[in-house]
Amino acid sequence: MDYSAKFEPLTQFTTPCAVVGFYQKRKLTPAAAALDEALDGLILKLLKRDDIEGKAGEVYSIAHLPGSGIERLVLVGLGKKGEGGVAAYRKALAAAAKALKESNAKQAASLLHEAEVEGRDLGWKIRQFIELLEAGLYTFTQMKGGNGNGNHKPPRLAKLQFVLDGEEQTEAAKAAIRQGRAIAHGMKIAKDLANLPGNVCTPTYLADQAEHLARKSKFKARILDEKDLEELGMGAFLSVSKGSEEPARLIVLEYFGAPDKAAPYVLVGKGLTFDAGGISIKPAANMDEMKYDMCGGAGVIGTLAAVAELELPLNVVGLVPASENLPSGRANKPGDIVKSLSGITIEILNTDAEGRLLLCDALAYAKRYEPQAVIDVATLTGACVVALGRHPSGLWSNHEDLAAALLKAGEGSWDRVWRMPLWEDYQEQLKSNFADVANIGGPDGGSVTAACFLSRFAKDFPWAHVDIAGTAWKTGAEKGATGRPVPLLVQYLLDRIA
Ligand code: BES
Ligand code: MN
Ligand code: ZN
Repeated sequence: MDYSAKFEPLTQFTTPCAVVGFYQKRKLTPAAAALDEALDGLILKLLKRDDIEGKAGEVYSIAHLPGSGIERLVLVGLGKKGEGGVAAYRKALAAAAKALKESNAKQAASLLHEAEVEGRDLGWKIRQFIELLEAGLYTFTQMKGGNGNGNHKPPRLAKLQFVLDGEEQTEAAKAAIRQGRAIAHGMKIAKDLANLPGNVCTPTYLADQAEHLARKSKFKARILDEKDLEELGMGAFLSVSKGSEEPARLIVLEYFGAPDKAAPYVLVGKGLTFDAGGISIKPAANMDEMKYDMCGGAGVIGTLAAVAELELPLNVVGLVPASENLPSGRANKPGDIVKSLSGITIEILNTDAEGRLLLCDALAYAKRYEPQAVIDVATLTGACVVALGRHPSGLWSNHEDLAAALLKAGEGSWDRVWRMPLWEDYQEQLKSNFADVANIGGPDGGSVTAACFLSRFAKDFPWAHVDIAGTAWKTGAEKGATGRPVPLLVQYLLDRIA
């Protein structure tokens, strides 16, 4: 999509399709009011006639406007004026995206950023528009056969202009477009990888794609194979992949946008390309969704791509341990004890708690970068979905400033996180009679004990864990990856500049 921002007086302006907001009780935004006046009150007349109120997300299209340079007008409800909530604005944006897709217009101009959203500036409103428009236009057709693909009509919309109120807004609008586009690209990369089935997106495929992206972009990729992992001593990680025919990979991505001596931010993403649970096998219902168990890894890859596109003046490292978790004659068995890279031994009481076995070795590996902070993102526990539902991701951290920065980045990007306790009190649930630690902590507080497990491998740096089990994909009729936590991570990194 070609995005632009320009100041233009609305009444002389020509476009095949204009998107304009109005509030509940038919209170018009400045742009809608100006158009209404130029059209002799036609807009209000039609809204009244058809009893359209302006509830958030309500859409009313006027397909033909005689005597106007605007060929088609899409009016989008913004909800109650004065309430100015983010949720209502995002509802309006999603509805606008749907209407633009269905309009078949090739070009459009938007004025939705006129909407009042409390505490949010023009740049934020433009960025959100781009993210929600790209999400609305996204379709995953890679796996449709000849006919299926032939039936799919790609959206026609190719150009979108933000119509500004004054010349002085141009700079901020252009910066927002650049950020919005990079975040949307990163989300698309993450979604495409995540939506691929496990028989296509294997650890090797994921590594190949990361290398391919790195070649096109300004970051480097290094792929460690099982021999490398063995030499390093990543016994926990390797134990998970033993049960699979597909070899494990550790994907190492490095982006240097700052001087070499600047300590990097390390992002670690769980990359289980399929999680059947191993010997402690999962129930059959919805097991297909465990192809999404690599959403953390995909999010890290997408984030690196966005960071490189934005040429951020930071050093950022991405670590994606990638493996399958399957039952087989070589798979981990309950009671097995493995030795992690850190030297800590782990009793595997449930082979389905495999994510932490990969992540603990990746966290230990992160130490060699002498990082400024380490953030892991992982579809780690079903218990997190039980605790928080599917709106926020769970956040745990051993460092107050890092936790605060992530909460702020979540609010800023609207890819929100909710902090959970990492109290010492929970640690005793991980006691093992035979090894240093058990890989599960019993039925109570499953998402918390998973974080507590990881914390033992993250003692040497500021660390945060983000459980994205409830947020990385949608289940049910709308099944598909969401692209989260790319907005959160990119926002966190943007906030580190200046
Ligand atoms: N990948 C799953 C977590 C998961 C489950 C995410 C369902 C999203 C939806 C993870 O590897 C897992 O199986 N966790 C177990 C841990 C348990 C065995 C302690 C879980 O959540 O049941
Ligand atoms: Mn599992
Ligand atoms: Zn898993």
